[in-house]
Amino acid sequence: MKRTHYCTEVDNTIIGQQITVTGWVQRRRNLGQLLFVTVRDRSGLLQLAFGEQTDKKVFEIAEKLRTEFVIQASGIVRSRGADVNKSMATGDIEIDVTELIILSEAETTPFEIVENSDVKDDLRLKYRYLDLRRPDMQKNLILRSKVAGSVRRFLEQNGFLEIETPMLTKSTPEGARDYLVPSRIHPGNFYALPQSPQIFKQLLMVSGYDRYFQIVKCFRDEDLRADRQPEFTQIDMEMSFVDQEDVISLNEKLVQHVFKETLNVDVTLPIKRLPYAEAMSRYGSDKPDIRFDLELVEITTEMHQCGFSVFETIIENKGKICALNAKGMGELGRKQIDALVKVGQDYGAKGVAWLQIKQDGSEKSSFTKFLQPDTIQLIKDKTSAQNGDLILIIADKATVAQTALGALRLEVAKRLDLINKDEFKFVWVTDFPLLEYDEEANRYVAMHHPFTMPKDEDIAIMETEPQNVRAKAYDLCLNGCELGGGSIRIYQHEVQEKMFKLLGFDKETAYERFGFLLNAFKYGVPPHGGIAFGLDRMIMLMAKCDSIRDVIAFPKVKDASCPMTDAPDVVDNIQLKELGLNIVATEKTKE
Ligand code: AMO
Repeated sequence: MKRTHYCTEVDNTIIGQQITVTGWVQRRRNLGQLLFVTVRDRSGLLQLAFGEQTDKKVFEIAEKLRTEFVIQASGIVRSRGADVNKSMATGDIEIDVTELIILSEAETTPFEIVENSDVKDDLRLKYRYLDLRRPDMQKNLILRSKVAGSVRRFLEQNGFLEIETPMLTKSTPEGARDYLVPSRIHPGNFYALPQSPQIFKQLLMVSGYDRYFQIVKCFRDEDLRADRQPEFTQIDMEMSFVDQEDVISLNEKLVQHVFKETLNVDVTLPIKRLPYAEAMSRYGSDKPDIRFDLELVEITTEMHQCGFSVFETIIENKGKICALNAKGMGELGRKQIDALVKVGQDYGAKGVAWLQIKQDGSEKSSFTKFLQPDTIQLIKDKTSAQNGDLILIIADKATVAQTALGALRLEVAKRLDLINKDEFKFVWVTDFPLLEYDEEANRYVAMHHPFTMPKDEDIAIMETEPQNVRAKAYDLCLNGCELGGGSIRIYQHEVQEKMFKLLGFDKETAYERFGFLLNAFKYGVPPHGGIAFGLDRMIMLMAKCDSIRDVIAFPKVKDASCPMTDAPDVVDNIQLKELGLNIVATEKTKE
């Protein structure tokens, strides 16, 4: 309104000046003749002072103030002298108030509006508009806005056009469950909310727009996790006449630009790259956290004919035996070892074998009684084990052994406090397999999506060794989180047909699902590729939060509902009738 400054813009360079601030009452201290009010706006806090010199009417208004009242205050900036409040950015000054208006009163809030509050999440989200007043939440959302601005500036400078794509559309190929919207005009028909703008951005390339981007909402009906929400935001882009190197090099410059401009953090280029197979064998993850070493070691060859039937059966079945040296954990008690075993099991391992080498050199183990001393020595050599170490071993199907041990690697790093939380360690994971085998469906599915280009040298083996075909697909990971993923797309008819065949799509199914894309490709299609970053995840990591909920203004809780609006909700029978819908009663709908 008539504000002249945000609270923290008032400083000791304007002592003696008349200013006006607006905001919420954070705190009021009434010392009889003296009264202090801390006012808060989105920039921070400022102290208002009322004393003997204050106009009587103004003082009386100040006495009525309670926390969270909205006020407008004018006055003269003055120094606090030696009485500096170091906990406030404006702690060396205060305002000698000459005018005070209560713009609105407030009831007692369900929780106090303070930084780092330990209020339960459900309550915070029910009163999200109050939770969002807290300085830490404001910092996150301000950072989010700055990052979005920084991304836009970079991409515009690099010739990208921002183009919107539809929200009411047909199923997209990302592979999660769709959110559906019933059509009133076409009863019994449904739009799908986009899981990503994938097909539309490829169509924009066919249309010649060459470099497209969008900061866009995507919708996926999947189980929520700390880094997953049913609606989330992507920084989505697509480029024509490019190969993998072009997409990677532009995007690492984008990341470097954004981190410098918004956090003043230097990202060194080029960002390290790891082929998928290496990421899995060394870190047990396709999104490795490389802030610490603690690498996995494969000991399959060493365990050949070792005499331990569990290991031998796995080897016969073409599985892998992988080991991890949890350095310095040699003195763990049995309970703590069992807890580590449980982590491995939670990630699908049938068991975790362990060998503990105590400080005095004595050993305890779950499996070495089945092995010869020289085989045990081989394990120790391979894992560089010393006194005071704990070796964890998983023998299983290759991906299970690696993934479960990868999870243990993270757990061990947490317990040993090996993770530097101030570091940002990026890594590109490249050369993903084109396909993965879906045991339930008993067929191959696309690891990225059905339009992902195989590597040139692997096209020849698509039919003979589909499991070994690598894709021109890449993920950018940061501190163990998948920040973004993309690929070069198939633009040749014959390669696309081969791909559909591998996925078990006949021509009709392919046309039914993606006909408009396949038809478009008949009319001149440029080579193209792109990537999408999860904006929420990027901000979560930049703001060092544990959950993307803390960087989304109005997120959903674990069961995908919103405690503030009560969405999703039942609708009127009239609406259902218009849409031609009938709700079938089940145990769940009765609730
Ligand atoms: P992908 O499915 O890998 O690729 O998604 C890209 C990025 O989006 C983020 N993300 C999510 N963030 C929060 N909640 C979710 N439920 C969620 N799902 C995904 C991740 C992920 O890396 N169309 C392709 C991109 C392309 O090929 O260009 C796509 O959507 O950070």
